[in-house]
Amino acid sequence: MKQVLTYAIVGDSKGIGASLREQLLASGHRVIGVSRTGVQRPADEYSEAYQSLVFDAVEHPCDLSSFATELAGLAYCPGTLRLKPLRGLKREHLVEDWEVNFLGAVQTLQANHKLLAQSPNASVVLFSTVAVGTGMPFHASIAGAKGAVEGLTRSLAAEWMPKIRVNAIAPSLTDTPLASSLLGNDAKRAAAEERSPMKRIASATEVAGLAHWLLSAQSQHMTGQVLQMDGGMSRTR
Ligand SMILES: NC(=O)c1ccc[n+]([C@@H]2O[C@H](COP(=O)([O-])OP(=O)(O)OC[C@H]3O[C@@H](n4cnc5c(N)ncnc54)[C@H](OP(=O)(O)O)[C@@H]3O)[C@@H](O)[C@H]2O)c1
Repeated sequence: MKQVLTYAIVGDSKGIGASLREQLLASGHRVIGVSRTGVQRPADEYSEAYQSLVFDAVEHPCDLSSFATELAGLAYCPGTLRLKPLRGLKREHLVEDWEVNFLGAVQTLQANHKLLAQSPNASVVLFSTVAVGTGMPFHASIAGAKGAVEGLTRSLAAEWMPKIRVNAIAPSLTDTPLASSLLGNDAKRAAAEERSPMKRIASATEVAGLAHWLLSAQSQHMTGQVLQMDGGMSRTR
């Protein structure tokens, strides 16, 4: 019989995290979701396997030790998408991008290291962006904050191996609430598709599918990696 494992998703109320939650539940696992708004799922066969916590994981470290004795994996999904020329970036913009993308991830991992270490093969998934490896105008603040996430990914992979794996996914534009300002009407969507080498926008489901795989034992030999899920944007011209 398949083992029921417990996974934590910080940021499971929408976007990639919401899709990851449903994929993990459908795989028969237990999920603890954390978000500022919380999730009301319709009653179904997965209801008992799911717990939604309303918590701001950037304002305070999110310690899940009252809700689980071990974690097989943790995904940290909060992110920002602020595109501005450098001269328009205010200090508070830089601080917010840094706090949501990097600091929130660090303090979540600090708070839950013991729970992850209880698991024989735990896996952490973080999120970067294609704009770290590929220079794009107006991305200075988010690229800086996500560049820190990529450094964190490799540092923690080294620090926590061999028990806990740490990887990141660097997507290009993905169809989620975060990207709504860039995909909000047909013209914007068509322009975004045209900019993509694959002439399409990634769905939350497909990016979550990669996160699902990174959290699973099928990726047991994978750590310290930043996986570019960007329709070829970072590697082709
Ligand atoms: N979508 C894209 O085009 C794209 C491209 C490149 C990289 N990424 C990265 O991929 C990751 C997931 O993106 P997404 O598009 O799925 O984002 P999203 O649609 O904005 O969803 C983010 C999730 O995080 C939660 N969240 C935000 N702040 C939080 C906080 N302080 N405490 C707890 N939960 C919080 C949100 O729920 P509440 O609002 O309820 O708290 C939501 O559930 C992000 O790191 C993003 O930077 C996305």
